[in-house]
Amino acid sequence: MNSLQFTDFKQDNQRLSMVTCYDYTSACIVNDSPIDVILVGDSSAMVMQGHKTTLPATVDTQLVFTQAVVNGAPSKFIVADMPFGSTRQGKTIATQIAMRFMQAGAHAIKIEGAVDVDIIEHLVLSGIPVMGHIGLTPQFFHTLGGFKVQGTNDDSANLLIEQAKMLERVGCFALVLECMPAFIGQKIDQAIKIATIGIGAGPHTTGQILIWHDIMGLTETHPRFVKKYIKGRELFRHALKQFHHDVTEQHYPEAVHCYKA
Ligand code: KIV
Repeated sequence: MNSLQFTDFKQDNQRLSMVTCYDYTSACIVNDSPIDVILVGDSSAMVMQGHKTTLPATVDTQLVFTQAVVNGAPSKFIVADMPFGSTRQGKTIATQIAMRFMQAGAHAIKIEGAVDVDIIEHLVLSGIPVMGHIGLTPQFFHTLGGFKVQGTNDDSANLLIEQAKMLERVGCFALVLECMPAFIGQKIDQAIKIATIGIGAGPHTTGQILIWHDIMGLTETHPRFVKKYIKGRELFRHALKQFHHDVTEQHYPEAVHCYKA
């Protein structure tokens, strides 16, 4: 997979699957799966570190997660999220940060919002594929007034379509569309040639992304668009209960777990 193939998927009417991932062991599992793309999302701040928003994600924490995923998933296309503020301090700083993600082994970076278009253009011209991200952009949590569905009236829907066209124009190879009515997701997908990756944007996008912890049923609460594929919390709780029982009842370790002289 390379960044140009995202558009091929769309032209061939094929669907793309994408998951977030933040650690080596999970990345090894994704590497052995048919999933097409991994995002080392700044959602790490919430699901890995327990923060209420993605704002506390930093370049340093994202680099640690990116490196771990690169080590575990050598055959996957890996996108690294540019964290909060990292594209807002000028072209030079944004380029230096994006280069660090690419040098850590990412194949592309993702930038939230349609405000840094000159920087996006500069990065693309510098050889750094950029995935855009519009709709609910969690880094704008405080200006959006929370985690809210976007594009629910004509003005905001039209703005999203304009943003999508602009991001395509400055060279984004694909766009994440987050939390918007399904028909707006479809309109945006139809308005541009590049691939769209939906999360809460309906069934008409080129691909879909979900957060690892949501797919695995590890999160306590989750938004409407999430589909849990296993009951991870229950499975883990059961394993821990069983281990505790085995230890306290002296069923573990058994001979097979012990070293011989
Ligand atoms: O940070 C993240 O995980 C994301 C996805 C929700 C698209 O940006």
